[in-house]
Amino acid sequence: MWILLYLFVIWSSLRTFVTASDSTATIENVTVTSETVSTSLWSTMFPQMTVAFRSQRDIMGNLTVDQLPYVGVNLRRVLLNNETSMVNDGNNTKILTLIKSMLASEANVFVLDLKQHNNDLMVVDSTLLFSDVLSTLQSFIVSTQNNLYADMIVLFLNISTTEQGYTADDYQIQTLNTTFLLDKNLGSMYIYRPTDLQNDRAKNNAWNVYGKSSTDGWPTLGSVLFEQKKRLIIGELTHVFNETTAPYIFSHDVFHYEQGNSTLGCPSTVDGLTNLSSVQWRFLDSQFTAGDIKEYISCGLSPIISNPSNINNVTQLSGIIHEGSIWSWDNNQPSITQSTSKSMNSAGTLEAYNCVLLHYFANNGTATWRVDNCYNSDVGLCRYENSAFKWLVRTNKASYFDFDSYKGSKCPDQYSFNIPRTPLEQRSLISYLQNESFPDTEMWIDLNSISVSNCWVSGGPYASCPYQKVISTRNFVTMMVPASVCSFALLFIVVYLSVLRVPIYDNRKNWRRVINKISKSELEGVPS
Ligand SMILES: *[C@@H]1O[C@H](CO)[C@@H](O)[C@H](O)[C@H]1NC(C)=O
Ligand SMILES: *[C@@H]1O[C@H](CO)[C@@H](O)[C@H](O)[C@H]1NC(C)=O
Ligand SMILES: *[C@@H]1O[C@H](CO)[C@@H](O)[C@H](O)[C@H]1NC(C)=O
Ligand SMILES: *[C@@H]1O[C@H](CO)[C@@H](O)[C@H](O)[C@H]1NC(C)=O
Ligand SMILES: *[C@@H]1O[C@H](CO)[C@@H](O)[C@H](O)[C@H]1NC(C)=O
Ligand SMILES: *[C@@H]1O[C@H](CO)[C@@H](O)[C@H](O)[C@H]1NC(C)=O
Ligand SMILES: *[C@@H]1O[C@H](CO)[C@@H](O)[C@H](O)[C@H]1NC(C)=O
Ligand SMILES: *[C@@H]1O[C@H](CO)[C@@H](O)[C@H](O)[C@H]1NC(C)=O
Ligand SMILES: *[C@@H]1O[C@H](CO)[C@@H](O)[C@H](O)[C@H]1NC(C)=O
Ligand SMILES: *[C@@H]1O[C@H](CO)[C@@H](O)[C@H](O)[C@H]1NC(C)=O
Ligand SMILES: *[C@@H]1O[C@H](CO)[C@@H](O)[C@H](O)[C@H]1NC(C)=O
Ligand SMILES: *[C@@H]1O[C@H](CO)[C@@H](O)[C@H](O)[C@H]1NC(C)=O
Repeated sequence: MWILLYLFVIWSSLRTFVTASDSTATIENVTVTSETVSTSLWSTMFPQMTVAFRSQRDIMGNLTVDQLPYVGVNLRRVLLNNETSMVNDGNNTKILTLIKSMLASEANVFVLDLKQHNNDLMVVDSTLLFSDVLSTLQSFIVSTQNNLYADMIVLFLNISTTEQGYTADDYQIQTLNTTFLLDKNLGSMYIYRPTDLQNDRAKNNAWNVYGKSSTDGWPTLGSVLFEQKKRLIIGELTHVFNETTAPYIFSHDVFHYEQGNSTLGCPSTVDGLTNLSSVQWRFLDSQFTAGDIKEYISCGLSPIISNPSNINNVTQLSGIIHEGSIWSWDNNQPSITQSTSKSMNSAGTLEAYNCVLLHYFANNGTATWRVDNCYNSDVGLCRYENSAFKWLVRTNKASYFDFDSYKGSKCPDQYSFNIPRTPLEQRSLISYLQNESFPDTEMWIDLNSISVSNCWVSGGPYASCPYQKVISTRNFVTMMVPASVCSFALLFIVVYLSVLRVPIYDNRKNWRRVINKISKSELEGVPS
């Protein structure tokens, strides 16, 4: 009888997870642990890169999604060309695995060329169905739907209507139900739709840090990922669909998408940068090298890699994607530490490698971030009010704890201790440093891992790490309600009865002591 009850509980819990994922998307709140992303066909992502990428995502949380740097690939050019379909011979397992590996290696924009195929769409020059690509995306999204790994994905569709020369195609494709395809293979709860944008704009709150009116603004990254729990924006590069025929898909007009050379300049004045940032969703589909991709990103463009390659040598592009996706940290940074602790070195001075210095090089006008000792004395970076592009380097040196303490920061009135949050903001900082003829300079920026090692946060030395709790009560509730109520009641009964029968009760105190010990060591910080 007990076995039957256990089995029933397991079955209904599993069912809960399936049904819960049908209705609303959830974000799991998980803890940082040692991590490696295994990507068999792709080069391995080092934990360091994962930490670097996550810290970038976190500092960009308050910026609107149309202003973020993305790195993408044009799948037809890099993977799904004619050669692919011949080599591949109808078995698409390898292509789908490669797409998933690219997602895991932090490419987050995909351009897909599609044509109609019965009631589905098919990827041009291949035997790959759109629904299979969507299922791959869905499985990636589900496996990364937590606060550590969740990030935006942008999918661009290039719909071909003239491929086979049918004049009727234009009419036919209008009858294609894209909503059905997306609901069935991906799930609408992960898609940020045009109606979601309308709702956000109607709310008229103060989320737009660039000060644009809420009639044409976009929500912040943090709001999309963690409040609305959406992951994907779908746009069309062609003009085949409209809001009636494809209500989940944003029209071409929303995006600034260019191929070949960019017509947007690369300004270095505050006015020019402000003008550039009034252009939303800036993409450049072109060929890039590991050497030049960072320059395009520093000009505020999101590169879409179109370098000719195929299924057999596409992995060679992984170096370019990595170069592009980390715009802030230096190579091999941030250095991974085992624990946060204040220690005394041989010379008898205090050491805590948990703070970040921005290194500026005057000779080539570049800047990069490196972890350093919080007790060192250095200058610090201040930002003028809410202005994205106005900086001041405070030149009286102090330790990280003294530069920004409970008593306030060393920045003058109207300025605050800060950090460049996008490549464009970093560009304006470099331009300021050049204007003021700064020599090579190292300065504190508002980023540290003082509260928890490898968890990089802004907000001064006392900012706390958001990844400490395994599952917060609130999230636990949204994840389980409503289908789970019944099975949890049962689980409770079973556990309760087991407790009565098994002497587990006696061990409770011991168990609690272990937990306390763990959380205590996690919380140990560096007092100033
Ligand atoms: C985002 O903005 C809010 C309100 O302005 C502020 O309280 C919060 O600290 C900011 N978060 C980050 C990560 O900058
Ligand atoms: C792809 O192959 C088809 C026939 O196999 C050919 O008609 C078409 O021109 C090729 N496209 C490209 C871009 O090479
Ligand atoms: C496709 O290829 C993979 C290995 O590359 C193999 O495991 C799989 O069985 C193949 N699938 C089909 C349907 O042939
Ligand atoms: C979209 O498809 C057309 C025709 O197939 C092609 O000429 C164009 O370059 C494609 N656009 C992109 C961005 O790949
Ligand atoms: C498309 O499919 C959805 C279900 O996913 C359905 O609600 C909708 O009515 C369909 N639209 C058309 C035009 O058939
Ligand atoms: C969308 O396209 C369909 C089919 O071409 C057309 O009937 C409909 O009027 C269009 N809707 C809008 C709002 O343009
Ligand atoms: C892009 O610009 C370079 C030089 O500025 C030029 O050589 C090249 O032809 C241009 N490419 C396109 C596609 O216009
Ligand atoms: C640099 O100086 C120029 C000329 O005075 C000015 O227009 C520009 O805004 C300055 N750039 C920055 C980032 O302060
Ligand atoms: C910025 O835009 C305004 C209005 O469009 C224009 O008058 C001004 O010249 C632009 N400034 C720069 C530096 O491009
Ligand atoms: C991949 O191979 C193709 C030829 O099949 C070549 O044109 C291309 O340059 C190669 N790409 C890379 C990244 O090596
Ligand atoms: C800029 O110069 C510094 C020091 O001279 C050097 O370490 C760095 O690699 C250079 N950066 C680039 C992008 O050339
Ligand atoms: C995760 O939990 C922490 C602490 O309970 C909370 O502050 C944070 O907002 C949560 N994050 C998300 C994404 O829900």
